[in-house]
Amino acid sequence: MEISAVRWRPMTTRVLSGIQPSGDLHLGNYLGAIRNWARIQHTADAFHPVVDLHAVTVPQAPGELGKATLRMSQMLMAGGLDPEVCTIFVQSHVREHTECAWLLECTVSFGELSRMTQFKDKSNQQEFISAGLFTYPALQAADILLYDADEVPVGDDQRQHIELTRDIADRFNSRYGPTFKPPEAVVPAAGARVMDLQHPTHKMSKSLDSPRGTVDLLDDPADIVRKIKAAVTDSESEVRYDIKAKPGVSNLLSILGAATGRTPEEAAEGYSMYGPLKADTADAVVELLRPIQARFAELEADPAETSRLLKIGADKARAIAAVTLERARTNIGLLTP
Ligand code: TYM
Repeated sequence: MEISAVRWRPMTTRVLSGIQPSGDLHLGNYLGAIRNWARIQHTADAFHPVVDLHAVTVPQAPGELGKATLRMSQMLMAGGLDPEVCTIFVQSHVREHTECAWLLECTVSFGELSRMTQFKDKSNQQEFISAGLFTYPALQAADILLYDADEVPVGDDQRQHIELTRDIADRFNSRYGPTFKPPEAVVPAAGARVMDLQHPTHKMSKSLDSPRGTVDLLDDPADIVRKIKAAVTDSESEVRYDIKAKPGVSNLLSILGAATGRTPEEAAEGYSMYGPLKADTADAVVELLRPIQARFAELEADPAETSRLLKIGADKARAIAAVTLERARTNIGLLTP
């Protein structure tokens, strides 16, 4: 008897986590999310959408989003996601996401959405607050629930959205019968909350508009060193991990620890001045990003190959999403066409 060549992998857990294609990847995205995705893909069945529809909750320059989506996909691959091991796809290529999002918008309350801190932060930065920015978490819930994901590996800032996703799944299930699997957020021990280097009480973020406070994955080494050496600290000189009293120094220790596989407290050992701490943190980050930058340059040179891989990813994703959406439609009792 011929044995078919299916590779056996001990995969019982499905994970899903997405990223917006607005701007380039920064060190917070990498340490808080992508680096863990790259590890998890080897032991779990992993799905990673580039969530372009989430990006249109705020106005986009016409014609630019597609390029940014391709670029973000290449950055994920450069950051260690292997399209032959996990599934990388573009959210808008799998139309089930928007249909499911509508069903979930009708399952979440106005009050619940109003309590989302990301909405409060983002709406404060916008002149025009779209309805989509408000209902954003329902689309995020659809991203997750369509795949029956067990775990959602994210940075600390996404915990609230994942909690809401659980509540939405539970409510839908109690109204219409078992349909969606409530997922768990998985937040890394180190790097879950990388702060802005100039404003260390704010998380490093694409939307903070703080170029000197944000290390982009594609920054050249000299810029990385300059930004880290200019990081805001405090007027003392003691190197100690204490987020409340010493947010700037603690952020450097978190980054150094995450980049070198240690806790921030361990990373603090042996330093008595800020200068050497900054120099070593800068070196560690440059070394961490060097291979990613080299790989990105290769991928960037062949956009057609990235598009081909994204199509394969979308086909795989759609096959699963379509089944879950059909289950939801049936359980609600929508008339079959
Ligand atoms: P986004 O695009 O803002 O960020 C992508 C991932 O990076 C993490 N992250 C950080 N981690 C540590 N420190 C930081 N300073 C930092 N900044 C960002 C985020 O926690 C996230 O894991 N709503 C999501 C995108 C999304 C999604 C999903 C996530 C859409 N659908 C489904 C999970 C599952 C967002 O805006 O992430």
